[in-house]
Amino acid sequence: MFVHQVCRSSRTAIILLLCFLVSPCLQAQSPSHFEPSLESLDKHPLPQWYADAKLGIFIHWGLYSVPGWAPLIHPEHDFTSPDYITHNPYAEWYLNSMRLEGAPTKAYHREHYGADYDYYNFAPVFDREIQKWNPDTWAKIFHDAGAKYVVLTTKHHDGFTLWPSSTPNPKLPAERQHATRDLVGELTAAVGKQGLRMGLYYSGGYDWTFVPGPIRGPADYEAVKPQSEAYGKYADAHMRELIERYHPAVLWNDIDYPKSGHPLQIMAEYYNTVPDGVIDDRFGVKHSDFISPEYVTLDKISTTKWEECRGLGRSFGYNRAEGEAETIAPADLIYLLVDIVSKNGNLLLDVGPEADGTIPPVQMDRLLALGAWLQMNGDAIYGTHPWKRAAGETAEGIPVRFTEKDSAVYATLLGQPKTTGITLKSLSLKVGSQIYLLGQATPLIWSQQGDAIKVSLPATLPGRYANVLKVIGPLS
Ligand code: GLC
Repeated sequence: MFVHQVCRSSRTAIILLLCFLVSPCLQAQSPSHFEPSLESLDKHPLPQWYADAKLGIFIHWGLYSVPGWAPLIHPEHDFTSPDYITHNPYAEWYLNSMRLEGAPTKAYHREHYGADYDYYNFAPVFDREIQKWNPDTWAKIFHDAGAKYVVLTTKHHDGFTLWPSSTPNPKLPAERQHATRDLVGELTAAVGKQGLRMGLYYSGGYDWTFVPGPIRGPADYEAVKPQSEAYGKYADAHMRELIERYHPAVLWNDIDYPKSGHPLQIMAEYYNTVPDGVIDDRFGVKHSDFISPEYVTLDKISTTKWEECRGLGRSFGYNRAEGEAETIAPADLIYLLVDIVSKNGNLLLDVGPEADGTIPPVQMDRLLALGAWLQMNGDAIYGTHPWKRAAGETAEGIPVRFTEKDSAVYATLLGQPKTTGITLKSLSLKVGSQIYLLGQATPLIWSQQGDAIKVSLPATLPGRYANVLKVIGPLS
């Protein structure tokens, strides 16, 4: 017995030593079982894959993709503006908007479908259209865009589900409750084949089949959240189906969770099923793996992991009225990603496909540009963590963002230099250090000039939109 004990303790010592040597092992030490309490759930460590991933693709796809329309007002998403809801730029809110007096969506609906055309008549149309969809095509596009994970709306506020749920919705006719194809399962499989992780969005806070509203303004936000016993059971059952059937890498709940449901229980079951999964901060309880600002970027490094979600345009769901002008420009998209990553964030970039799964050309264009940039410069993004500072500037006025990985600091220039030299302000680097330009093999010539670093650049720069300097050596 004594010998056995010695062996066991020396084995423990070796494991501990290994954990010290391989620091992620320490970070990743996770309890083997979670209880439905904040105390237990808060012991869930942020999985390394999520910290490293930086880019996810969000997909809003559902009945609202059939009309696919919203007004083009409120480009800045001034959520508090008094006419925001009647002019909601979110096309996935079509069912709400089409019922509001004075809303452009009401007029659009009347004109294209007739005032009496019920929203759930879009179900058979959606079902017909989705037969054309190829999940492998999507998965390849998202992979090539440089994303490491995908999050799909499984049920948005309209209550229609993208998987054939075995929990019947008492409020909708059986043939109009869910898609006939298992869109959630098929995409999960396709995304996995591309080596990406699959996450699932669920609207727990609003379900307009249970409490229809409409929401006319901020005063209705709370009242329209269903809180009945029946809805609590329904949401819990849906969450359990999603967890058990699809093992999502991200459990992304929206708006809130019914008080009659069991969010802590669901979270514990989720971690016990998917230990390296992550949970967002919209369950209405004080536990999450990350915070989820929407169309907002944090202005400094946050020690709490965050994920900004936003559409490529102004809407999450497909809006046929959006074109070039309403869609983020490729350069701005790349700057946005770099800026977010420098502050400890991920970008969950939303694609709004048409009902048949077509990704609008203007959105495809941005995904391709982002993918091409990441192909060359992804070293400055994936697997990095924030440096001491997020932001800097060159003497020529180009904003700079920093990230760090292993022994390198990456300084990304958010703008194209017009000269063959730039000066990085307020930085100093030890003699003998090296600076490379991603996309070019030979090191650059540089010199310390007071409290700035002067760097010579080649006449032709490799990076389209943004170039990255990789600094190897002690930088301060
Ligand atoms: C919101 C919106 C919604 C969108 C979502 C994405 O709260 O209501 O339409 O799905 O957030 O973050």
